[in-house]
Amino acid sequence: MLQIGKYAFHRGAILAPMAGITNPPFRQLCCELGAMYSVTELISCHAVVYFDSKARNREKKRGQKTLLLMDRYEGEHPHVVQLYGREPELMAQAAQIVEREGAEIIDLNFGCPARKVIKNGMGCGVALMRDPDLLGEITRRVVDAVKIPVTAKTRIGYGPAEKNGLEVAKIMAQAGVQLIMIHGRTRDQGHSGPVDLAYMKEIVDAVSVPVVGNGGIASKADADTMMEKTGCAAVAIGQGAKGNPWIFSEIAGTGEQPNLTARVATCRRHLALYVAWGGEQRAVTEMRKHACWYLKGFDGAAAFRKRLGEATSEAAFNRLLDEVPPQ
Ligand SMILES: Cc1cc2nc3c(=O)[nH]c(=O)nc-3n(C[C@H](O)[C@H](O)[C@H](O)COP(=O)(O)O)c2cc1C
Repeated sequence: MLQIGKYAFHRGAILAPMAGITNPPFRQLCCELGAMYSVTELISCHAVVYFDSKARNREKKRGQKTLLLMDRYEGEHPHVVQLYGREPELMAQAAQIVEREGAEIIDLNFGCPARKVIKNGMGCGVALMRDPDLLGEITRRVVDAVKIPVTAKTRIGYGPAEKNGLEVAKIMAQAGVQLIMIHGRTRDQGHSGPVDLAYMKEIVDAVSVPVVGNGGIASKADADTMMEKTGCAAVAIGQGAKGNPWIFSEIAGTGEQPNLTARVATCRRHLALYVAWGGEQRAVTEMRKHACWYLKGFDGAAAFRKRLGEATSEAAFNRLLDEVPPQ
């Protein structure tokens, strides 16, 4: 069992945050299919504070964009909002704002390797692994600023010669986080390549808060291996959920892999949820990549995927889906 504050989860896996992917429609699908919970994509503390200082001017474009990232789907509990930033005061302020806006857990991002997050003077995300004192101060300030639980996500290290995930995890635990998610790769590996299960186990053994393992899980067997070899409290899945939200029911033991007809049905539902949340134009454009992930392995699949670009309305998208052979 996994417990974060008043939230208890009995089995399954967590949907790891992914910018541009884990928005409300996809989070809803994954949680309906058995994900323990999901996390919003990363949100800048500057953007949150800016949105607030603009006195909820919901007409402002930037404010609107931030608001959308913070959205929850109806019935989402817990609503976990991920923040990133390097100024402790701003992070604390942003945490209070998202708590006031309804977040039920705040997750701190200390793992993102994206250039725009770690460079250009930002020094956020995984860059903070190189400044563990500051990382600890940010964490403490956020924990002290809010009443809701705070969790954090990091990596095993910045690079092969800078594996300090253990030190960082101890600092986070001491600063009061209630759960630590460890992506078992270093910053230079990005989001692919081998995951260091032995080092993850050292982290699990060293801290008293629950540790969630993450990295490279594409099946229940992979999840079982990570649980066994690291002793982690649960696992989180990122890329393995793209086009395959059923991975959560497989791991929870509540469902099986669907046939093509069921995949098409889920793609339609995903599209409808997307339209309701983000509007038709955005939904149709952004659902093309999801449809490519859902719809593989039938005669003519490659040609079908190429034609997705032609679908410029929800109705046209659905008409194209009608052409997938039933199975
Ligand atoms: C496209 C993409 C976007 C991501 N965005 C975030 C993010 O916003 N916050 C975060 O903590 N991690 C982010 N990650 C990292 C994932 O949460 C996860 O740690 C990583 O993909 C490894 O897990 P996986 O092998 O199961 O995909 C992102 C990964 C990908 C591929």
